[in-house]
Amino acid sequence: MRIPEFKLERFFAEHEFTAPYLLCASDCEAMSIDDLLALEPGARRGFDALWLGYTESPGHPALRAAVVGLHEAIGADDMLVHSGAEEAIFTFMNGLLNPGDHVIVHTPCYQSLMEIPAAIGCSVSPWRSREDFAWGLSLDELERLIEPATRAVVVNLPHNPTGYLAPRALFDRLIEICRARGLILFSDEVYRGLEYDPADRLPAAADAYGNAVSLGVMSKSFGLAGLRIGWVASRNREILAAMARYKDYTTICNSAPSEYLATLAINHRDTVVGRNLEIISGNIERLDNFFERFSGVVSWVRPKAGAVAFPRVRDGGALFNGLLEKKGLLIAPGSNFGHGDTHFRIGFGRNNMAEALGKFAEYLEELN
Ligand SMILES: Cc1ncc(COP(=O)(O)O)c(C=O)c1O
Repeated sequence: MRIPEFKLERFFAEHEFTAPYLLCASDCEAMSIDDLLALEPGARRGFDALWLGYTESPGHPALRAAVVGLHEAIGADDMLVHSGAEEAIFTFMNGLLNPGDHVIVHTPCYQSLMEIPAAIGCSVSPWRSREDFAWGLSLDELERLIEPATRAVVVNLPHNPTGYLAPRALFDRLIEICRARGLILFSDEVYRGLEYDPADRLPAAADAYGNAVSLGVMSKSFGLAGLRIGWVASRNREILAAMARYKDYTTICNSAPSEYLATLAINHRDTVVGRNLEIISGNIERLDNFFERFSGVVSWVRPKAGAVAFPRVRDGGALFNGLLEKKGLLIAPGSNFGHGDTHFRIGFGRNNMAEALGKFAEYLEELN
């Protein structure tokens, strides 16, 4: 397979560890191993005694049992643990799709959701989140996009980069459309659990529809990207088997220490995710003030979930260069998401966002 470079990852490789202020991270505030082990009596002893042989390819039973707790209709055998969400996207697309298949992908998007099927030789239709509808999706448009060769619909809710969260009625209708047409629904749910109002939380797609694949990960809502643990849940065992056959050629099995720590974090999700929701809540208030104050230059659709948003600006390229050169501040231009530089992604899941936003405000003030 030949695949174009991953723009956002190359962008981060160039700037992430050199720019002093980061306002575009997609994850939440991380924790140390020490903090995680302190969540449960005896956890430290268990970690020290961990055996470092090969692990079970579908994932450690304790980790799979923990993920079951995030679902309503998923059992421990209805999942496959991976090294991050990225690997799971790769094994799903390669294990399930063939050249000539048609795939419909929610865009703008995390590039691999669109790029991997295209590199396999699928035809890919973007299903666009529309800013004039608060980044909403149109089901009429989806129905127009479906072709006889359509095999899968790919969505990301809550959405990166816009922060869009579909209303329940739209989600239910999406499932009905996929069911009626026999389509696989690949549902990237890496921000699930970060709804500002828990009543807005959508069901996991794999709970709602037997032909859906729900993608979860430790990186975003949990803020533990360094664990590199992700998973897919699906009641369709053929899908899981096809992915498992592909995974034999990527990582085979997962890191034992990471699986142990991920299990601990999921079992204490109210504490771990709750802490991130608190950080987001403080940061959202700061962002409300910021967008009000600079409404002549930047505007946003305030998200209902997640740790990212996709504000609009007149000249994103100039803004990006100016912020980096003058303030050492990094935002992610929309071109990294297959979108124009009329928009940029900001991330607000981290503790030091206030400081980064202060640099942004300073820069805009100095422009006037
Ligand atoms: C929507 C979405 N899906 C998947 C991923 C991949 O997650 P990970 O880096 O944990 O593999 C990301 C990472 O930014 C993402 O934003």
